[in-house]
Amino acid sequence: MGILKMARSAFYICQSCGTVSPRWKGQCDACNTWNSLTEEVPQEPGAVKKATKSISTRAPAIELGSLSGVGDPPPRLASGLGEFDRVCGGGIVPGSVLLVGGDPGIGKSTLLLQVLAHLASNNIPSVYISGEESVEQIRLRAHRLDLIHNPLPIAAETSLAAILATLESMDSGGVVVIDSIQTMWRDDIDATPGAITQLRASAQSLIRFARRHNTAVVLIGHVTKDGQIAGPRVIEHMVDSVLYFEGERSHQFRILRAVKNRYGPTDEIGVFEMSHTGLQEVQEPSALFLDDHENRVTGSAVLASIEGTRPVLVDIQALAAHGAGGGAPRRAVVGCDAGRLAMVLAVLDTRCGLKLNGHDIYLNVAGGLRVTEPAADFAMAAALISSAIAVSLPPHCALFGEISLSGALRPPAHCDIRLKEAQKLGFHHIFMPQQRGKISTPEGITIETFASLPDFFSHFSQGIALDDSVATT
Ligand code: TYD
Ligand code: MG
Repeated sequence: MGILKMARSAFYICQSCGTVSPRWKGQCDACNTWNSLTEEVPQEPGAVKKATKSISTRAPAIELGSLSGVGDPPPRLASGLGEFDRVCGGGIVPGSVLLVGGDPGIGKSTLLLQVLAHLASNNIPSVYISGEESVEQIRLRAHRLDLIHNPLPIAAETSLAAILATLESMDSGGVVVIDSIQTMWRDDIDATPGAITQLRASAQSLIRFARRHNTAVVLIGHVTKDGQIAGPRVIEHMVDSVLYFEGERSHQFRILRAVKNRYGPTDEIGVFEMSHTGLQEVQEPSALFLDDHENRVTGSAVLASIEGTRPVLVDIQALAAHGAGGGAPRRAVVGCDAGRLAMVLAVLDTRCGLKLNGHDIYLNVAGGLRVTEPAADFAMAAALISSAIAVSLPPHCALFGEISLSGALRPPAHCDIRLKEAQKLGFHHIFMPQQRGKISTPEGITIETFASLPDFFSHFSQGIALDDSVATT
């Protein structure tokens, strides 16, 4: 009987996405992560039942307020890193809770240490608490960042009770960094540090502290590949803003991207470069993602893209190689959506007669940037065409435009900003979709518009005898 009862009350939670399952399974049904389900025992079984009876009689009534009476919002806290502030929507909002996620080793601790040091040097109450590193290790990093004379208080601690007891005496209106939330544990919660129950409970306590104390709390979270510790995604819904720090570790560029922001836009990015003395802001990111555009090679097209409110010019590289034969051809995509590539290939096949079915296709966005906007379609298609017919695009040429299934090219938003950025970086040839209204052409730029991808294809491949393997049959 006892065993039966236990079996009924225990449940299993996926440490990656938080889905609850009554039975243990090798793979989570919701997010398909392997080995991520761990057993969790509910806190105080029966407590909910007891409480429902007289819940309204057990607490004093709360005071209801009105919508009016709000003064000016408190000023935001400037971190000294303009790129960080931009992604936050203009600085850190006092009393808000931010989650900064990212792969281990990407530079989260470095970024937040730099931010806090700047705040501390401007007399904003700030505390950096690390559950991952010792005080010595934090000092070593500070030494590298040339921050050893900074007044920022630091501590290495994982007990949330001790941390909160310490923070109570801090002046309000400042910022606390918890590095990382996955190392924190509450002794009143019966789960190991890193388990989803601990993660949620610890985040909850810190959020309550932030609101009550009017102190902004930044939670650092590691994105985890296996299910051993819960990922930051499971607390995304509890916090005000979610920022992800991404990039290839082999590249020095890092991109901070807002995926949720109660106090600002969500499509903004901040670009940093990891140097040997910490993260440096990159205010003009366009040039970073361009390879040498003087000598164009085949299979390369420059996309005039918009990331958030900012134009970014980026090199899209494609390689269409004859498949080795046997088995399905390879489709390898880095930096853009594989679904979009499939769509572009289908349009090239059906509408333009460019057959790449049997080819291995490799698509890469230079510099480690991830391009998500549909305006990248045209550049993808142009790079593919260029590779397939072995003709490079004209030098100093950039493109943008969305491709519809009919093969029509559609103009994206902010054409004028894209054109201006292209002009600024020395591009003087633009291929773009036809516009309904008039476009003001920046000086020194030639614009060629196309109604559809087949139009562009026939214009570009004019006079070129297509190889049998790619020609219309
Ligand atoms: P870190 O901030 O520890 O990453 P995270 O907290 O996301 O795990 O940064 C780790 C990497 O950054 C590490 O490989 C060393 C590198 N790094 C530099 O290149 N320059 C620097 O000035 C610092 C502090 C770190
Ligand atoms: Mg770290």
